[in-house]
Amino acid sequence: MYLIWCTLFLASQINAMDNLRVAFEWKVVDFLYPSQEERSLALQNKAFIPENNIPMGLEVYKDRLFITIPRWRPGVGASLAYIYLNDTLDNPVLRPYPNWEAHKMRSNDESPEIVSPFRIRADQCGRLWVLDTGFTDIAEDTLRDLRPPRLLVYDLHNDELLRTHTIPLDQKNNDSFFANIAVEDHDCEDSYAYLADLNKPGLVVYSWKSQSSWLVKNNYFHFDPLAGALNVSGVEFVWSDGIFGLALSGPDSEGFSTLFFHPMISYNEYSVSTRILRNETLASRSFHEFKLLGSRGPRSQSGASFFHKKSNVLFYALINLNAVACWRTTNPHYDMISQGRIFMSNETMVFPNDIKVDNEDNVWVLSDKLPIFLYKNLDYNEVNFRILTAKVADAIRGTTCDSKLVVIPTIVDKIKPIMKNNELMMNTNGNSNNMNTNRDMRSSSNRIYHTTFVLVSLTVFAILY
Ligand SMILES: *[C@@H]1O[C@H](CO)[C@@H](O)[C@H](O)[C@H]1NC(C)=O
Ligand SMILES: *[C@@H]1O[C@H](CO)[C@@H](O)[C@H](O)[C@H]1NC(C)=O
Ligand SMILES: *[C@@H]1O[C@H](CO)[C@@H](O)[C@H](O)[C@H]1NC(C)=O
Ligand SMILES: *[C@@H]1O[C@H](CO)[C@@H](O)[C@H](O)[C@H]1NC(C)=O
Ligand SMILES: *[C@@H]1O[C@H](CO)[C@@H](O)[C@H](O)[C@H]1NC(C)=O
Repeated sequence: MYLIWCTLFLASQINAMDNLRVAFEWKVVDFLYPSQEERSLALQNKAFIPENNIPMGLEVYKDRLFITIPRWRPGVGASLAYIYLNDTLDNPVLRPYPNWEAHKMRSNDESPEIVSPFRIRADQCGRLWVLDTGFTDIAEDTLRDLRPPRLLVYDLHNDELLRTHTIPLDQKNNDSFFANIAVEDHDCEDSYAYLADLNKPGLVVYSWKSQSSWLVKNNYFHFDPLAGALNVSGVEFVWSDGIFGLALSGPDSEGFSTLFFHPMISYNEYSVSTRILRNETLASRSFHEFKLLGSRGPRSQSGASFFHKKSNVLFYALINLNAVACWRTTNPHYDMISQGRIFMSNETMVFPNDIKVDNEDNVWVLSDKLPIFLYKNLDYNEVNFRILTAKVADAIRGTTCDSKLVVIPTIVDKIKPIMKNNELMMNTNGNSNNMNTNRDMRSSSNRIYHTTFVLVSLTVFAILY
């Protein structure tokens, strides 16, 4: 019996994995200049060096897909740009956001409006939150801070700059690097932005209403020294990035979200209520309110993450495994076997760098071979940057994150006689095609499902690794 169920679940898992499709891909990026002459001039005076432009962060809002192109090296056209969702799959040309003016490099004492954002977030109120690191030539000896790190907020209805907030000096130091942002937007007038400083490390909380920010420190923001060695497609390197992945749940009955977070160099996932983070005094006094959820296991260093409110599923990038995975946040267990594999490929998913879910429940992933760009050389004759997508329901179907594990009909027919005789199963599950994993896992009288679940998860994880 266990064996049959095991095969059944495993079959459906294999069938459902790797459901993302490539929506856009680039060998090298290009920008839409006001005219051919201006593009030629930019190429000529090295204001634009195409092979130094690497897409990194992404966001989707209505008909536009936004991309950040940080200034790792000289010659970045514009560090924030967009394409239209109806653009061509191959090499769609990037349009500067909000316009060319905001990216213009001027004389030494006048920096562009936007210098070098790593990540952005469009909220449900129609605002685009841009977290600008302020650095230029990040991968060069000529690294400079053109501006202090800033938060810029644009109105997506007319692309006008609504507000800028410079991170105050007492909330950062010279090592600070603000690479990721999450926005709590249940109340448009009382929204909060959470800004991760991966190097200090720290979390700066910004209140839209009070137009002020404060710094939260915690031991869990630090990197794990045992997890620093990475190997991506044979490129070996050591990183020491602290707090990075930030994902906010929907509001609880009092209006507070849960922030799921992790350092990039770590195998662990943590959580804390924004009830704590939103109150500076409370945040500094409440160490035990920050919870360790568990460990994902070896080689599971994770970058970006995103919480999908309708399914309660946390999506996250496995940067050292060329994979995207998921965890159902209603699952009481957080360990290796409770993770679901969404997509894994040493070709199209080399370094998944950002993940978002849009308002129409499409999950989007950007992969960009960053370690090869930084430590070797990209081959510009092949595809280097990709954006992959799927409906959330399709992406998680059949994984441990699915609330309805879909059973393959042919196998169902084979085991129907057994199912009919199984009183236990009929009692807990009126519809044999739809099984609620979480409910089953929680039911103490239903050890059979848990056992099956564990067996299947183990097998699936074996495949993942
Ligand atoms: C693509 O979308 C943009 C913005 O919605 C629109 O202006 C444009 O006409 C569309 N192009 C095509 C070919 O449908
Ligand atoms: C930080 O940088 C500023 C300006 O570059 C410099 O004056 C200051 O000494 C630095 N502080 C530390 C602690 O390195
Ligand atoms: C890194 O990965 C490559 C294969 O991609 C492998 O040959 C090499 O041994 C790995 N290095 C380490 C230190 O594991
Ligand atoms: C923050 O928390 C402290 C300690 O619980 C409390 O005294 C204070 O009123 C709170 N502040 C706000 C603005 O809620
Ligand atoms: C990708 O994986 C396939 C199958 O495991 C393997 O044959 C191939 O060598 C790998 N390619 C790289 C670049 O690691």
